[in-house]
Amino acid sequence: MSKSHHLENIKKAQKEINAKKALMKNALMRQRYHFMAEEGWLNDPNGLIFFRGKYHFFYQYNPYDSFWGSMHWGHAVSDDLLHWDYLPVALAPSEPYDDHKEGGCFSGSAIEHDGKLFLIYTGTANYGDGFVQTQCVAYSEDGIHFEKYEKNPVITAPKGFDPANFRDPKVWEHEGRFYLVCGAKKDDLAKALLYRSDNLLEWEFVNVMAESRGELGNMFECPDFFPIEDKYVLMFSPMGLNERTCVYLVGDMDYKTGTFYHTVMGEIDWGFDYYAPQSFLDAKGRRLIVGWANAWDWMPFWKDWGPTYKEHWCGSFAIPRQVRLMPDNTLQFLPVEELKSLRTEENVRYNVEVEDGPVDVSAGDGVAFECRLVLDLERTTAETVVLELRSDGKFKSVVCLDLKHGQMTFDRNQGDGWSRGQTKSPLKLLDKKLLDIHFFSDQSSIEVFSSQYQTNHSCNVFASNDQNKNTVRAFGGRAYFTSIISYGMERAID
Ligand code: FRU
Repeated sequence: MSKSHHLENIKKAQKEINAKKALMKNALMRQRYHFMAEEGWLNDPNGLIFFRGKYHFFYQYNPYDSFWGSMHWGHAVSDDLLHWDYLPVALAPSEPYDDHKEGGCFSGSAIEHDGKLFLIYTGTANYGDGFVQTQCVAYSEDGIHFEKYEKNPVITAPKGFDPANFRDPKVWEHEGRFYLVCGAKKDDLAKALLYRSDNLLEWEFVNVMAESRGELGNMFECPDFFPIEDKYVLMFSPMGLNERTCVYLVGDMDYKTGTFYHTVMGEIDWGFDYYAPQSFLDAKGRRLIVGWANAWDWMPFWKDWGPTYKEHWCGSFAIPRQVRLMPDNTLQFLPVEELKSLRTEENVRYNVEVEDGPVDVSAGDGVAFECRLVLDLERTTAETVVLELRSDGKFKSVVCLDLKHGQMTFDRNQGDGWSRGQTKSPLKLLDKKLLDIHFFSDQSSIEVFSSQYQTNHSCNVFASNDQNKNTVRAFGGRAYFTSIISYGMERAID
């Protein structure tokens, strides 16, 4: 099949998008400041890059349905990570290696080379015996229209590796050469495979740079690798690790052998809805990550994708977060400072004692807002501090900080009549004097950051606009906040 087939399939997708886009004007539950597709289904962030002065987000996209299927790459650009212009679909399934039966253009990444924008993605096909995944290249002169490389695929699974689990290439440049890491599976264990190239088209296998002996699961989805100060980070979304959906490892890289040695392991986000984050470096020198605000893992007990599919859309991205290295080589994940530009009215209180009754923490309309609380641990006698968010008295989401046992939970069993489950994590009390809690509420999600942005829980909650009461309470004693500062958040997405 030729290049024209790709163009044809892009046009077909575009027609579908244009027809359905109008439905989004009245669609319910759409986010107000979290990135979403124009309509239809979205999953992983792909090809995140700051290119020719703009942020480019690509994403796993099914324009034809509000369920996963027929993976395209959607594309949008922004100046500030908050307001987006959608561009034509960048990749559509069109060739035997990315279209044959249940095929698609699966996740991958972007890099600039020779004045062109290169996309490296996983072509998935099914010739009758399960998925065959290979790594493929597409490029563009203008950063809008992409042509698939005629000699695709550029990498096939090495002998002995499962061709159905060989995906999600993340590319970077190191000392003038290109490298990529790819998720793979062998003998039912996860492997991260390292490849090297001088031109992005011909690749040589270097080494298994990291692997699971069982403790890291049986497949690394969306591996990502980057330097931070004098260390390196490998992050991935492991399959087969139950409540862990987003792991990071910090360590050292030996480029001579292609081996990564880690000394620190952590969780990027413990919530139900944070998966497959991808990182990129922006012009300000920040290492940013963006995650898909959903995850596959809880699917089997949920059995569907939530109420939004009836509204012809499903999926959003979590807010972009800046990664920083702490002195003990753990990582923190801070909401990007651009979000401050959306702040509307503020609600500022200092020295707030919470004992008998709930204290209001809302701002704006109590739906789209952010709030930062600083708890003085030395003056606090309470055993637990509880946030009841997006409540109307009947439904509510409950975030509990258990100071006695050092645990944090997010309970959405009564969140909206549909959502279920409780996420749970250790609460890392880094500084024995103060505990910071910062959360962002949008139309259909709540992201809670605590303990210097190291213990984070992001969950979707499909709460109605009447669920706009937000309070903090204390149990087993008194909680003393040095400050509680809330801001309404302006709409950024139409
Ligand atoms: C992660 C993932 C990737 C794959 C893509 C398919 O969410 O399963 O491993 O490339 O989604 O849409």
